[in-house]
Amino acid sequence: MYRTYKEEIERKMAGEKKAEYNFLGKTGMKVSNICLGTMTFGYNDEGPMGVFFGNPRQSSEADAHKILDRYVELGGNFLDTANMYCSGKSEEIIGTWLEKKKNRDDIIIATKVRFPTADFTTLNDVGLSRRHIIKSCEDSLKRLQTDYIDLYQAHMWDNATPIEETLRAFDDLVKSGKIRYYGFCNLCGWQMQKIVETTKKLNLNPCVSLQQQYNLLRRDSELEAFMVCENEGICVLPWSPLKGGMLTGKFKRDQKPDATGSRAGYMHAKREEGKNTSESNWEEFGSNENYWKLIAAMEKIAKANGKTVPQVALRWLLQKEVVSSVIIGCTSIQQLEDNMGASGGWEISPEGMKELDEAAPLSKPYPYDMLWGFASSGRMNRFNRSNKV
Ligand SMILES: NC(=O)c1ccc[n+]([C@@H]2O[C@H](COP(=O)([O-])OP(=O)(O)OC[C@H]3O[C@@H](n4cnc5c(N)ncnc54)[C@H](OP(=O)(O)O)[C@@H]3O)[C@@H](O)[C@H]2O)c1
Repeated sequence: MYRTYKEEIERKMAGEKKAEYNFLGKTGMKVSNICLGTMTFGYNDEGPMGVFFGNPRQSSEADAHKILDRYVELGGNFLDTANMYCSGKSEEIIGTWLEKKKNRDDIIIATKVRFPTADFTTLNDVGLSRRHIIKSCEDSLKRLQTDYIDLYQAHMWDNATPIEETLRAFDDLVKSGKIRYYGFCNLCGWQMQKIVETTKKLNLNPCVSLQQQYNLLRRDSELEAFMVCENEGICVLPWSPLKGGMLTGKFKRDQKPDATGSRAGYMHAKREEGKNTSESNWEEFGSNENYWKLIAAMEKIAKANGKTVPQVALRWLLQKEVVSSVIIGCTSIQQLEDNMGASGGWEISPEGMKELDEAAPLSKPYPYDMLWGFASSGRMNRFNRSNKV
């Protein structure tokens, strides 16, 4: 990969075995291309999210601090959290670590607003109203023990609030210095486009990023939302890049993962107990022939490159032009080190990328089959990026 002289110097100064850095979309701010997701920091088995955050594989504060230390040692500078992760405990754990390390200026912090933090019965502690956004921002600042958030993200669209109200609130927070940038998560194409058009119409600070589930088993956003991102210089920050562990190659066919050894096993066991879990990836993929074919293709590419299966899954995302940083999750230092090994110093060949794309095909229901398929193939113009898929 070509690097400018300045980038080469930055890299040397950063030392050996360090992460690569990218601009966060079209902003002038650089982030490590591996962002550390902190949804697994803290334990809380109470309330409506108790099934999820009561997973015994959640990290204690001490273990989370060790993961944060090692992540920074490996060159990472970008943390992702949310007000609702473990009822605010994830933010608190980051806050105590920043206070201990006194390294706030070196770290880029992303957090989120939209869902209730703890009490799901409080009338206005939800949504993307001006009131909830500003209150939630102030609460996050306290938990994070900082006076600014680098990237403040709406966790999902809110059908109850006009988008103008939401965008003006984010713009005011940028102007007041409480946040540096804002982004959105979990959008479909028309919502992303509407955000772009509204900020232009109202002359507001732009949305800079879209955090979306994106991995070899979930490519749907390529059909629309990512096209808007490419056209507008909004970067994609993929979440669940390993599909909650399913893209690691650690599960064996016909061998149900045990409830304590992995999140996939835990979630599946909870589902079998009749609990309403947000995911059960084993249920969805464990008996799917195409899933096992994909794992075999990943194993082959991993072997050819002297890398691991998780590294191949992460690298595939990093080589997508629209991605600035991939948000990893980990439950141990070993997993962290493995995942950071995807950051740089090697690439999947174009043939390898093609093989992976074909092993994880993007299904194109109507009208996408016409729009991005045979009917437009004779009308490609490289200056018009919306023709890309
Ligand atoms: N915006 C949103 O709506 C949203 C939603 C979800 C997540 N996120 C963000 O995305 C981050 C990552 O999501 P995720 O945790 O679902 O990511 P993921 O990468 O798909 O899954 C991470 C899990 O896979 C397993 N794992 C990770 N690395 C491994 C390795 N090298 N070898 C074997 N197993 C490995 C670990 O679970 P086990 O050890 O238990 O198997 C780990 O907790 C979150 O922390 C959060 O910041 C955002």
